[in-house]
Amino acid sequence: MASFIKVLRQLLILVLVLASGMLVWNFDRLTTSRKYQHYRKALSWKLTNDTKSNLTDVQYLKIDTGNWSAFPYPLNVDMVELVRKLKSNIPVEHKPLFVYQYNFKHYRIDKCVDGSPFFIFLIKSAVNNVKNRVAIRETWSHSSLMEKYNSVRLFLVGTPDTQLKRSAVEEENDLHKDIIIMSFRDSYHNNTLKTIGAIHWTVQHCNRSKFVVFVDDDMLVSTTRLVTFLKNEANLSTFFGGYISKHRAVRNKKSKWYVSQKDYPHVSYPPMPSGGFMITTMNFVIDLHIASQFTKRFILDDCYLGILAYKLHVKPVYIRSVYVVPIHNSSRLFNTKLIAAHGYNPPSLKSAWKALQIKFHP
Ligand SMILES: *[C@@H]1O[C@H](CO)[C@@H](O)[C@H](O)[C@H]1NC(C)=O
Ligand SMILES: *[C@@H]1O[C@H](CO)[C@@H](O)[C@H](O)[C@H]1NC(C)=O
Ligand SMILES: *[C@@H]1O[C@H](CO)[C@@H](O)[C@H](O)[C@H]1NC(C)=O
Ligand SMILES: *[C@@H]1O[C@H](CO)[C@@H](O)[C@H](O)[C@H]1NC(C)=O
Ligand SMILES: *[C@@H]1O[C@H](CO)[C@@H](O)[C@H](O)[C@H]1NC(C)=O
Ligand SMILES: *[C@@H]1O[C@H](CO)[C@@H](O)[C@H](O)[C@H]1NC(C)=O
Ligand SMILES: *[C@@H]1O[C@H](CO)[C@@H](O)[C@H](O)[C@H]1NC(C)=O
Repeated sequence: MASFIKVLRQLLILVLVLASGMLVWNFDRLTTSRKYQHYRKALSWKLTNDTKSNLTDVQYLKIDTGNWSAFPYPLNVDMVELVRKLKSNIPVEHKPLFVYQYNFKHYRIDKCVDGSPFFIFLIKSAVNNVKNRVAIRETWSHSSLMEKYNSVRLFLVGTPDTQLKRSAVEEENDLHKDIIIMSFRDSYHNNTLKTIGAIHWTVQHCNRSKFVVFVDDDMLVSTTRLVTFLKNEANLSTFFGGYISKHRAVRNKKSKWYVSQKDYPHVSYPPMPSGGFMITTMNFVIDLHIASQFTKRFILDDCYLGILAYKLHVKPVYIRSVYVVPIHNSSRLFNTKLIAAHGYNPPSLKSAWKALQIKFHP
């Protein structure tokens, strides 16, 4: 009987310890979420219609981003001022905290070195997606189109895991001279290294291009409509636009977008163009190049660019003719507006491209 009471007492103590532990844990969670509540407010941005909305068949919306200053993310400095100083060669007291340490293997791009391209396509491509690159070279970034619009096509890949694949991608580059092979391992979670690497490369090797267009290798692009858009509506010294998304930070560990509270304490992200298609000007790429070196690296590349833009007080422009889903070739959107759409495999890209050609060369 005595031993039974002893066990009961021990059980009771255990329950008490567990319960108080739960309380402390929950309290911690509560205070954490309270602490960041006002950042949620600061980032409750909204879309507003812009008056410039019908210069061409493209409509775009401007974004009202709320309170710039209520967004701590290291380094917590006035990034606009820091970039301005560094561009004027004025020394700053801060040390870079994201030093890009990878190398590029690439051919000399004559148009970049001897000329001034109107735009460059920087095409993020998984190194194994050889077929996507074949289809893209035959369609929206065909060499004859690149010639016609004084533009450049470059694929961005990391280093594959095997020697066999390394030789294959190098041979592909020997043939086409249109790949930048970056020295880190090619994988989804190294996408920020790819995008930031591309920004470093562009500033060092192609800094007289007027526009820089980031595209994924599963996109359809109407290059002709893109050029019209760049000439008419993006003709600004700073432009950053695409399909604008509003995302909350994902805390589910199984998700491919999982981010810990420690890496990103805020509830939502600043507005960002979806990573699949982003239009920027060289002027803004230079600012991003400087700002990225003073901003903590972040695993999701489009979120990282959104963070950089927010710190630079640049509002991404919502281009209504950029889509995150494939658009059917008989729809009105396809035939009158589409600048870019997402979700094409090599055969569907070729067929959609054929349909677009009928539109432009009836
Ligand atoms: C912007 O204007 C267009 C038509 O001009 C309208 O269809 C759309 O709903 C408006 N969007 C917003 C967010 O007000
Ligand atoms: C947009 O187009 C409509 C109809 O075509 C016109 O009434 C309106 O003034 C235009 N808006 C601007 C800002 O040019
Ligand atoms: C913006 O946020 C800062 C920092 O939280 C705060 O001090 C300031 O009052 C806010 N400004 C507005 C207009 O809400
Ligand atoms: C990213 O690249 C680095 C350098 O090659 C490598 O060590 C790391 O494992 C890669 N990360 C992922 C998630 O593959
Ligand atoms: C701009 O490009 C040229 C080569 O075209 C290069 O010499 C120069 O260093 C580049 N500028 C910067 C800031 O890297
Ligand atoms: C672009 O803007 C510049 C300067 O504002 C201007 O000189 C040029 O004519 C514009 N280009 C087009 C195509 O409108
Ligand atoms: C449009 O797509 C359908 C399949 O969805 C295809 O059968 C048709 O040939 C395409 N039209 C053109 C003009 O390419």
